[in-house]
Amino acid sequence: MISTWFIKELRAHVQGEKRKGKKIAIVPTMGYLHRGHLSLVEEAKRAGAFVVMSIFVNPLQFGPKEDFGRYPRDLERDSSLAEEAGVDLLFHPALEEMYPEPMLTLVEVKELDAVLCGKSRPGHFTGVATVVAKLFNIVQPDLAFFGQKDYQQVQVIRRMVSDLNMPVEVRSVPIARAEDGLALSSRNVYLSPQQRAEAVVLYQSLEEGAAAIRKGERSARALENLIRAKIKAESSGDIDYVEVRDAADLKEVTEIEGPVVIALAVKFGQTRLIDNKVVEVGTDV
Ligand code: PAF
Repeated sequence: MISTWFIKELRAHVQGEKRKGKKIAIVPTMGYLHRGHLSLVEEAKRAGAFVVMSIFVNPLQFGPKEDFGRYPRDLERDSSLAEEAGVDLLFHPALEEMYPEPMLTLVEVKELDAVLCGKSRPGHFTGVATVVAKLFNIVQPDLAFFGQKDYQQVQVIRRMVSDLNMPVEVRSVPIARAEDGLALSSRNVYLSPQQRAEAVVLYQSLEEGAAAIRKGERSARALENLIRAKIKAESSGDIDYVEVRDAADLKEVTEIEGPVVIALAVKFGQTRLIDNKVVEVGTDV
């Protein structure tokens, strides 16, 4: 199914599907597909949509010292996986097609981009919001599907859509996990066997955090300390952050009263992994 759709032809094709009465869904990805990406396609199919998947490793969202050059790529494998999953159109634009000129226009979602991952990856969310805005303009979808693993990314995109009145419904899909609980990520391939074994502590510590809330812990700082201590004790991971924040606006919380997200980023060697868990006081979601 590998196809080099150009923006103009893609638009014409998608408009044709719209005229037939089809809803259009986009599943934006950077490729190296795993079960998590395929679950987004599944949800899009369930919505009865014509599914466009984009595969584009977006240089704009990588810092100068990050892994843009070595980000895993396997278009042939991705293409068969996408086809098997029922993707109707695979959009794999060349760099020059997406960025024919240096970008003078960027989409910055202030405040939401400055916390959590935004602190250690300055410019990252501007890169994400800009490419997603471009993809939305290219495909003009009714629905867009994103994984909840990138919780902050979803919040940034939701806010962009709302602030800019984009006619797209953003849906987030639960995190796909390996059998032992590790959140699936294209970057997991970088992990050594030892790091892979240790990385399960991220999931386990989030579960312990959620259990502590259920048992009555209401102090966000105490919870963060509990999770940090477990990660330090059980792995060689280098903690970037462990933070409990308001699940809707990502603002800091002191006392846990409503829905919160426990979010973390931990480096194993050069590999930075993220994970999160949304917890409501009383009901764990
Ligand atoms: O989540 C990703 O893979 C990327 O950030 C996205 C949304 C495809 C934008 O490049």
